[in-house]
Amino acid sequence: MKSLLAFAVFPLAAVYAACTDLDFDYSDVTEHCGDLFNFTGDAGLEAPTVVTNVTYIPADNETDVPAYCEVYGYIDGYTKFALALPAEGKDWSGNFQSQGCGGSCGILGLYYVYGYGSLGWAYDILKRGWIASSNDMGHENGANDTLSTWSFFRNNRTEEYLFASLSTHQTAVMGKAMAEFYYGKPVKRSYFRGGSTGGRQALVAAARYPHDYDGIIAGYAAINETAIGAIQFVYLAQASTYENGTQILYQEDLRTLNAGAIKACDANDGLVDGMIDLAYECVFDPLDVLCTANQTSGCLSSMDKVNAARAMYGYPSNNVTDKVIPVAYLPGSELEWSMWAADYASPNYGVHFAQNFSINAAYQKDLPWTWTIRDQDWDTMPYETGFMEDIYSADFTALNVFRARGGKLIHYQGWGDGNVAAGWNYNLYKTSADLIGIDNLADFHRFFLYPQMAHIDLSDNSTVAWRVDYYDLIEDWVENGVAPDKLVIERYNLTSEETIDYRPYWPYPYTSNYTGSGLTGNYSDVEDWEPILVSECEN
Ligand SMILES: *[C@@H]1O[C@H](CO)[C@@H](O)[C@H](O)[C@H]1NC(C)=O
Ligand SMILES: *[C@@H]1O[C@H](CO)[C@@H](O)[C@H](O)[C@H]1NC(C)=O
Ligand SMILES: *[C@@H]1O[C@H](CO)[C@@H](O)[C@H](O)[C@H]1NC(C)=O
Ligand SMILES: *[C@@H]1O[C@H](CO)[C@@H](O)[C@H](O)[C@H]1NC(C)=O
Ligand SMILES: *[C@@H]1O[C@H](CO)[C@@H](O)[C@H](O)[C@H]1NC(C)=O
Ligand SMILES: *[C@@H]1O[C@H](CO)[C@@H](O)[C@H](O)[C@H]1NC(C)=O
Ligand SMILES: *[C@@H]1O[C@H](CO)[C@@H](O)[C@H](O)[C@H]1NC(C)=O
Ligand SMILES: *[C@@H]1O[C@H](CO)[C@@H](O)[C@H](O)[C@H]1NC(C)=O
Ligand SMILES: *[C@@H]1O[C@H](CO)[C@@H](O)[C@H](O)[C@H]1NC(C)=O
Ligand SMILES: *[C@@H]1O[C@H](CO)[C@@H](O)[C@H](O)[C@H]1NC(C)=O
Ligand SMILES: *[C@@H]1O[C@H](CO)[C@@H](O)[C@H](O)[C@H]1NC(C)=O
Ligand SMILES: *[C@@H]1O[C@H](CO)[C@@H](O)[C@H](O)[C@H]1NC(C)=O
Repeated sequence: MKSLLAFAVFPLAAVYAACTDLDFDYSDVTEHCGDLFNFTGDAGLEAPTVVTNVTYIPADNETDVPAYCEVYGYIDGYTKFALALPAEGKDWSGNFQSQGCGGSCGILGLYYVYGYGSLGWAYDILKRGWIASSNDMGHENGANDTLSTWSFFRNNRTEEYLFASLSTHQTAVMGKAMAEFYYGKPVKRSYFRGGSTGGRQALVAAARYPHDYDGIIAGYAAINETAIGAIQFVYLAQASTYENGTQILYQEDLRTLNAGAIKACDANDGLVDGMIDLAYECVFDPLDVLCTANQTSGCLSSMDKVNAARAMYGYPSNNVTDKVIPVAYLPGSELEWSMWAADYASPNYGVHFAQNFSINAAYQKDLPWTWTIRDQDWDTMPYETGFMEDIYSADFTALNVFRARGGKLIHYQGWGDGNVAAGWNYNLYKTSADLIGIDNLADFHRFFLYPQMAHIDLSDNSTVAWRVDYYDLIEDWVENGVAPDKLVIERYNLTSEETIDYRPYWPYPYTSNYTGSGLTGNYSDVEDWEPILVSECEN
């Protein structure tokens, strides 16, 4: 039960946790998971809660996961959440953590964090002594709904607000209140981690609800939501198909393009390793891989394919501008364009995504069911997504309130991302740096860019994971004031469960330049790289 004494002794703890060195003793809390059925939220103010399921899970002394309470329920009747709390106070560090979702969400992922490449996520969090939580962002997918289904949003502003920010915020409010209810003392620090839609959730939390989280890890954030879903994806859907809907590029063509881009630009970073760094500097024309006479493989077989590929690297234009959006797909991201390939596991996936998002979620008044990507009016429609963008987004630049209260943000992106193109996050960071100066920015917000990494921390084919313990890094920054000056990414083969290599990264405006004489795959390779300043770039 809530201890009033805790409030008397630590009156500011709940609000200014990030600035104070708090040292609570939770060890007197013994297991009482069942009491959580009586939890109703933060006194019914912002996050009225109904707990539906509570299960006590005993400690696993093989994996070191402590005993915990697994809790399910609803906030406000809409948002379904899942929480895992260490059952005994001695196993709780005082930290709370929430994770983001992907695509249109509609699923609960307590044991899988989108992008973490792990099925043991809540266990990892529990082993740190943190509370783990996730939520479905306000709707539950049915049998035929996927991360690319946006029909829940149709004519339903409530669902759109929940997806935009409300579910994320209410989960923070509810989770902190539940911890206090259970342990009798307030949460010391709170953390958020998310990628893609989760990355947007992370930035929205920092901008709109700057008191919710002390430390945030944001990957390849889907900013700006409507520009990506209803402008860039519609453009790509058109570029990759004929008028009749038949797709122009095949997986084999994407492999050809990727090989051509790597050949043209691999040495950008001083090392020929099959990975393109600083992809915006890469100049590659698909015409270079058009089949020559008698050549039948490893090349593009028609000018239709060349022109489609050129368009895929390009920008939509209209009667006002050559660049309706400021961001394009970069060389090195081709393999992940598979959602636009004719022989992808689900052909037309990208077209469906673009269409579903456009008709259900991008405009103030939803488009008719009969609307198709061919109906896009480039002169008018790009200027009509602002109403919904204002709901999904916020001013993410500089994040003044979050910064002022001591919040810390680790932000990262793969150059090879063929879903959320690197330029969206790169531009945001650069705009913020221009606004308040890179030194002021780096005091609380650092941005790391990795060559080749595709969406969700994986290779395009999902067999290689880019790994570093971001939780260690963010915890050290928030709790000890130690900022990540350099981090080391381990590329990990998920099939053989072996390390491929290690490489150090420095935050923007630095990139890694190779000075060694041959990679060994061992940790000692890290010494062979040096930080150099990146040159100014467009994208
Ligand atoms: C819930 O609260 C009621 C009323 O205060 C109490 O009688 C009951 O024992 C509590 N249940 C649990 C599981 O704590
Ligand atoms: C919660 O409990 C209900 C009823 O016992 C059950 O049908 C449901 O599967 C449970 N949900 C979870 C997520 O465990
Ligand atoms: C593992 O846990 C069980 C049940 O809690 C306990 O009986 C056993 O002694 C533990 N084993 C070790 C090696 O700690
Ligand atoms: C899912 O789609 C299949 C095939 O289109 C259809 O037969 C089925 O009724 C759908 N199920 C639901 C629950 O909508
Ligand atoms: C919006 O969606 C929610 C959840 O599915 C539903 O309860 C509500 O009735 C919907 N509102 C409208 C206006 O359709
Ligand atoms: C989102 O993109 C649209 C279209 O490019 C633009 O008008 C708008 O300013 C952007 N909003 C944000 C928050 O980036
Ligand atoms: C679609 O159009 C392309 C280009 O004109 C043509 O090659 C293809 O056969 C057409 N596909 C269908 C199914 O009509
Ligand atoms: C293509 O093949 C034909 C027949 O083998 C040969 O005569 C011609 O020289 C080849 N062309 C090129 C460009 O290699
Ligand atoms: C572009 O097209 C729109 C829609 O037809 C029109 O309103 C606008 O005046 C045009 N702008 C220019 C610069 O031609
Ligand atoms: C998967 O992707 C990685 C990184 O791009 C590559 O090295 C590997 O060969 C690919 N594996 C397959 C089976 O295509
Ligand atoms: C990963 O391991 C598998 C199985 O040993 C191997 O076939 C594959 O080439 C490896 N991938 C990379 C990128 O090293
Ligand atoms: C990158 O390292 C190479 C040595 O591998 C060196 O020649 C080159 O000058 C370095 N580039 C920069 C910009 O410092």
